[in-house]
Amino acid sequence: MPSQIRYFIGNWKMFGIPSSIKILDKINHYFKQDKKNNRKYKVIIAPPHTLLQDFSYKYKKKKIFICAQNCYYKDNFGAYTGSISPFMIKKTGVNHIIIGHSENRARGENDKIIKEKILLCLKNNFNVIFCIGENKNEKKKKMTIKVLKRQLKSAIEKKYNLRKIVIAYEPVWSIGTGRVPSSYELRKNIITIKKFVKKHFKTRHEPKILYGGSVDKKSVYNFKSIKELDGFLIGGASKSSKDFIDIIKNFYK
Ligand code: PGA
Repeated sequence: MPSQIRYFIGNWKMFGIPSSIKILDKINHYFKQDKKNNRKYKVIIAPPHTLLQDFSYKYKKKKIFICAQNCYYKDNFGAYTGSISPFMIKKTGVNHIIIGHSENRARGENDKIIKEKILLCLKNNFNVIFCIGENKNEKKKKMTIKVLKRQLKSAIEKKYNLRKIVIAYEPVWSIGTGRVPSSYELRKNIITIKKFVKKHFKTRHEPKILYGGSVDKKSVYNFKSIKELDGFLIGGASKSSKDFIDIIKNFYK
């Protein structure tokens, strides 16, 4: 069995200016000297659109991958003021993109728009990091699995190449709150998602599932034992090279 590659993805959200490249430089430096573990993981950083071109150019030949945080749901060019299409993002040299983040869903992005975005991103040959997750109320009503299944079914088609889609399970109640699920609960949900994806989309491909929500150097300890977990989507703690590196360090400690 090939060894499992884990993902450490930093989502900068509305953060970063050109000089923030030094955060990447420090992470890159750590990666290069981490000879013991660096074949076991992949680092991906998602800066805002304003930095994509510059960062992807500077990191073209390096081991850190640059990722977009979102795109518009129409492709190519068009009269959509302030919007950026998947095609335009691809031309900045970026190959990864986050779609369906709950912060965008909260601002009106629905299942239909997300489906359109994923379709266009696959058409442009992106690797999609697709976010799903239940909110606090849905969790309270024990609707978590139902919500996750709906989000998956409504966005992905059986004919898609699932190797191009990594799923990020991000319970909305854990994002930026310091609250994380127990490792028991998280493992259970990860396993359910994997089983569902394989069955529903009729694939033998083992889907990659990440966890996101208040991941930091402390909470990462809770998740180390979950072998089904393929990595992390990290918000707040990815804005500091030290915090981000500490997560990787503690995971492999
Ligand atoms: P957080 O954000 O790590 O700050 O909770 C995660 C995310 O929104 O992807």
